[in-house]
Amino acid sequence: MNNYLIKVQPDDRTMTGKADESILNTAIRSKVDIKVGCKGGGCGVCKIKVIEGEVETGVCSRSVLPLSEEQEGYTLACRAKPKSDLVIENHSSYNVKRNIQKPVNV
Ligand code: FES
Repeated sequence: MNNYLIKVQPDDRTMTGKADESILNTAIRSKVDIKVGCKGGGCGVCKIKVIEGEVETGVCSRSVLPLSEEQEGYTLACRAKPKSDLVIENHSSYNVKRNIQKPVNV
């Protein structure tokens, strides 16, 4: 399975992602703080922005990740898997556009 370098901004961290592992699980394994809620693509708490590279978005609720936001580069860390080296913007450490809804019990 392919490994990819994932650079996390603005924290300036680098982690090694795997094609079969969500970016959230990579972050947890790498001790990079990404906010987490439902872990199932239904709450939007883990929303990040892909600045460079490609991800497989995975199944998620369009109410928390509208197509317009996906086209702007936003994705859900709990569902997205890397398809190339990435540069991502982690929104956990500052206030940005979020669409936070009540977490869904999984
Ligand atoms: S943690 Fe809820 S959508 Fe990712």
